Amino acid sequence: TTIYVPRDSAALSLGADQVATNLKRAAMAAGRPVRIVRNGSHGMLWLEPLVEVVTDRGRVGYGPVGPDDVDGLVTAGLFDGADHELCQGVVADLPWLRDQTRLCFARVGVTDPLSPEDYLAHGGLAGLRRALETPPADVIAEVTDSGLRGRGGAGFPAGIKWRTVAGTPAAQRFICCNADEGDSGTFADRMLMEGDPFTLIEGMTIAAYAVGATEGYLYVRSEYPDAVRTLRAAIAVAREQGWLGDDILGSGLRFDLFVRVGAGAYICGEETAMLESLEGKRGMVRAKPPIPAITGLFGMPTVVNNVLTLASVPAILAGGAAAYQALGVDRSRGTQVFQLAGNIARGGVFETAFGMTLHNLINTYGGGTRTGRPIRAVQVGGPLGAYLPADGLDLPMEYEAFAAAGAMLGHGGIVVFDDTVDMASMARFAMEFCAEESCGKCTPCRVGAVRGVEVIDKIVAGQDTDDNLALLGDLCELMTEGSLCAMGGLTPMPVRSALLHFADDFTPRGPNGR
Ligand code: NAI
Ligand code: SF4
Repeated sequence: TTIYVPRDSAALSLGADQVATNLKRAAMAAGRPVRIVRNGSHGMLWLEPLVEVVTDRGRVGYGPVGPDDVDGLVTAGLFDGADHELCQGVVADLPWLRDQTRLCFARVGVTDPLSPEDYLAHGGLAGLRRALETPPADVIAEVTDSGLRGRGGAGFPAGIKWRTVAGTPAAQRFICCNADEGDSGTFADRMLMEGDPFTLIEGMTIAAYAVGATEGYLYVRSEYPDAVRTLRAAIAVAREQGWLGDDILGSGLRFDLFVRVGAGAYICGEETAMLESLEGKRGMVRAKPPIPAITGLFGMPTVVNNVLTLASVPAILAGGAAAYQALGVDRSRGTQVFQLAGNIARGGVFETAFGMTLHNLINTYGGGTRTGRPIRAVQVGGPLGAYLPADGLDLPMEYEAFAAAGAMLGHGGIVVFDDTVDMASMARFAMEFCAEESCGKCTPCRVGAVRGVEVIDKIVAGQDTDDNLALLGDLCELMTEGSLCAMGGLTPMPVRSALLHFADDFTPRGPNGR
């Protein structure tokens, strides 16, 4: 019997290692030969640890399984896929998974993340093999034609960025994967790195071939130790397999990859601060231009892409640009891995073509709030994203629709709040966060964020409310227009959206707050 027990850190934090140990012990006691495979997570986090048993019907899931549930489950016939109150049925048939279009996450949760055999058996390397048979310029054209835009948040067309890097004369070019996933409510990069690292390695290798790079770096935030371990192990396996190194798949392509770990600064997710950090310096933002595609790591042309952007590339090459382009709406093509978090009944990752409404994602799949209270606000796109009111959720999940609504899709993180949230304190938090995380290089952000906290405090204290509201408006405009990077430039977005949609919260309160 083959049993899957996830090794994703969400499952580990809920005792998955102990579950695996207990299952092994129970199998020995029952004299039952079992093979335990440690897979990634399918992304149904409310079911973690989700144990799956391979049966004639498919993989039957049980969850959430705590270490203490194991004996009871084994007695009830878990090894045979028997029914039990924790039994979820055949996992692939669950609506949450069945209704997704998994391209980037196709193998996450399905395979053993570090098994090269599993990777190949599930379509791994098809994209790279096809790329290696195609002239580099045509690979770039394929990525451009697919409509793939940067999944880190800004949505810049990936193919155009690659073309810039390829077209800039240089002695060396680099591929840098931005895995400093710092946005609140986002965890898709982590789950991909822990659940299917070979896809990311393959995507980076295709990028290297396309632009003529010989070296790549994965910049991973320090808060992701499991992802770091998994990536390092996967890179070692890939080298052994000849998927990285001096002669990749016998094609003569030379490319190698290295993991670098951040030190806990949100700003190091900004691409130029990340490059500084990779060069061993303090993570300060560089002025743009020049853009990294022309003057990047150590002054060389550099592709800086997010994990999900690079991990989408193998599927694009394998399936062709047209198939990818056929998904999505308007200028948002293909799929995005949305992440449901905050006060939500069913949190997790949901990969689907752009265009599904936010309402549908939160209510149909997420099941509404976890507390069962009405939704009051939803923040999309991280701490710098806008707050949307409950009656504004009929928004299609695509870049331009969000921009038109004064919001942003960002990295696809969705954080839900119920009616107990105080939006003035959320606005204050945005300023406080900026003050804390600012790199300090420019005045509108460094000073503006501190002043922003003070002004909001005065407003809620009822001190010269009208004047201070006007001052806050001016400050937001100055930060938006005058900041050097998105940190200071976007902090006003949550503040302004809170003011616009939840004006009542910015009123004097009693000494104990609300
Ligand atoms: P940006 O719009 O300045 O640049 C986007 C990308 O396109 C950059 O890589 C830039 O170098 C490149 N680019 C711009 N013009 C180009 C050209 N002509 N040729 C080639 N490449 C070009 O946006 P930025 O500041 O890089 O990112 C801001 C976004 O980051 C925000 O919208 C936010 O959603 C997101 N963000 C994501 C976080 C995460 O954890 N994933 C955290 C914080 C912010
Ligand atoms: Fe640094 Fe803030 Fe200026 Fe960005 S906006 S460069 S984080 S001070």
